[in-house]
Amino acid sequence: MAQKTQKGKIMAHTVQPSQHATSRRSFLRTGLAVGGAGAIGAALVVNGVPAFAEESSGGLTPGDAAILRFLSAAEILETDFWQQYNELGGIQDSEVPGGSGSAAYTAALKVLDGDMDQYIHDNTEDEFTHFTFINAYLVSKGADPVNLDTFRTLPSSKATGAQDIGRLTNLMQLTVDTSYWTKYRSRTKNPDFGDTFPPAVPGLLKGQFPAIPRDDTDLSPADHIQAIANTAGFHFAFIEQGGTSLYPSLAQRVTHPEVLRILLSIGPTETMHFQTWQDKAGNAPALTDPTNGLVFPDLNAPPFGGEDFQTNLIMPEPTVFLSRKFPPVSIIRPTETKGAAMGALKALTDDGLFIGQSPEFFAVLHDLAKQADAARHGG
Ligand SMILES: [Fe+2]
Ligand SMILES: [Fe+2]
Repeated sequence: MAQKTQKGKIMAHTVQPSQHATSRRSFLRTGLAVGGAGAIGAALVVNGVPAFAEESSGGLTPGDAAILRFLSAAEILETDFWQQYNELGGIQDSEVPGGSGSAAYTAALKVLDGDMDQYIHDNTEDEFTHFTFINAYLVSKGADPVNLDTFRTLPSSKATGAQDIGRLTNLMQLTVDTSYWTKYRSRTKNPDFGDTFPPAVPGLLKGQFPAIPRDDTDLSPADHIQAIANTAGFHFAFIEQGGTSLYPSLAQRVTHPEVLRILLSIGPTETMHFQTWQDKAGNAPALTDPTNGLVFPDLNAPPFGGEDFQTNLIMPEPTVFLSRKFPPVSIIRPTETKGAAMGALKALTDDGLFIGQSPEFFAVLHDLAKQADAARHGG
């Protein structure tokens, strides 16, 4: 609904590429020429996506607009996959409409926590509000918002309960990096120092696994649908720890205090999500998926266990920050600002979320990240 309104607003500014300008790059050149002739207002949009060479930043600095646009895109992508989770495993209601639920998947998720459906619903609603707010703020400043509707081309799950609509993201071939688990438990390492961390579930890095049932045949046997729910549980935390780092990383480069306030107000909600999901992932039962051999180990027993893995450690351990000369401190990690947007895009790509997307999709996301990473405080 909000997105529709936003889309209407964007479509009003839409300029169709000329028949001769087939490639994106040639369109950008054409766009530049047209814009330079003053024939078009500040906003120039290709298929609903801002053409960055011509972007309007309105009353915002170009850097602030670029950072907000990248965050809007990231939030649209988050919304897209959270919606898929909610349709099958959350609560479908007037706040988060769409889908009718999968009883077997919902029950498997509830093994992690009896309130999983409520938490999925609430996280989904939060993501909707994040991109809707950021886009509305961009528009209020005369800047171009972001709309990725043209890329809603990926298939939905065929499982009963999912809507049959085009998606931006793919939850059926994930390679989930669970190193966030040990990253937040280390007392001596920090990714900002180049440190790396072992995954909690090594198997999730060694293949492509569904985090939602692909169709109703995925609803059994019991350990298979539980493995799918476990994958989702670890994926929820992976996604939200990414947002937990992305906002503070980009906040260091915004210029206007109000834009800083936006980042400082949305970012910690990602942290609230992460904290919740990390706790729930710790309840994922140890098992082996009989269909593909994916192992969820007992994280409280050797060779796991100890402070790096024990499942009731859900708060960050203090670690090195800024310089090893300082005492360890409990912090979000990483918060390095250089290349933060591109790093986030790479993490989502490596996760498998965009498998099946078009080269144009990657080009647009790459441009958005590049513009955001070029932003400088006061610049
Ligand atoms: Fe978000
Ligand atoms: Fe989020």
